[in-house]
Amino acid sequence: MEKLEQLYEGKAKKVFATENPELLIVSYKDDATAFNGLKKGTISGKGVINNRMSNFLMGKLLEPKGVATHFVEELNDRETVVKKVQIVPLEVIIRNISAGSFAKRYGVEEGIVFDEPTIEFSYKNDDLGDPLLNTYHALALKLATKEEIETIQTMAFQVNEALKAYFKTLGIDLVDFKLEFGRLSDGTIVLADEISPDTCRLWDDKTHEKLDKDRFRRDLGGVEDAYQEVMRRLMGE
Ligand code: TMP
Repeated sequence: MEKLEQLYEGKAKKVFATENPELLIVSYKDDATAFNGLKKGTISGKGVINNRMSNFLMGKLLEPKGVATHFVEELNDRETVVKKVQIVPLEVIIRNISAGSFAKRYGVEEGIVFDEPTIEFSYKNDDLGDPLLNTYHALALKLATKEEIETIQTMAFQVNEALKAYFKTLGIDLVDFKLEFGRLSDGTIVLADEISPDTCRLWDDKTHEKLDKDRFRRDLGGVEDAYQEVMRRLMGE
């Protein structure tokens, strides 16, 4: 499958048309941003890792468990064929352990293990800084239907159970993560975007070392090594 014209360039990926109107090719970049694009940098090799990791988790872990995703076929280290979707403009965040904006917003330390995972939604809108919203707000803004939100919520918790258990076998605690969902042309909701150290907080379960983008966001150093370490545990390399 060949790339045709570029349709879109985001902060971490480019998206290209293909000869099939139902399929796109995404190309993962090494560019990294944080704080709504205020902080910019490069994480060498990140595009390859995020592409391969996301494809592995969607294609080999989630799809066999019945979670529909946009994944179709990995073309090469950085490029993947995905189903074309209309993105639901909600960032869906699941948390198992307190960290990040949760810890800040509610004035608690990071690292508190929750009895039950939490879910929250942000309105995917860079101009507004992705504001937090609840399902009533999402309905009022017509971002999705009630049925779609219920489907998204169910799928997000399924993804959490599968990922949490899998990462644990790699000695990694899945602290929290962000998902995005899309609609196929027939309206079916599928998991889209990516699952990577950019979009998950991953802590070593013994040392609690951060193995994710927080190393970039917080200037902790060892960013590339952390991404490589996740890849090594995931794919044995
Ligand atoms: P938060 O604690 O900053 O709200 O982040 C929660 C999770 O969502 C964390 O795993 C990082 C991920 N995330 C993104 O993927 N994109 C974003 O723009 C933000 C703010 C967080």
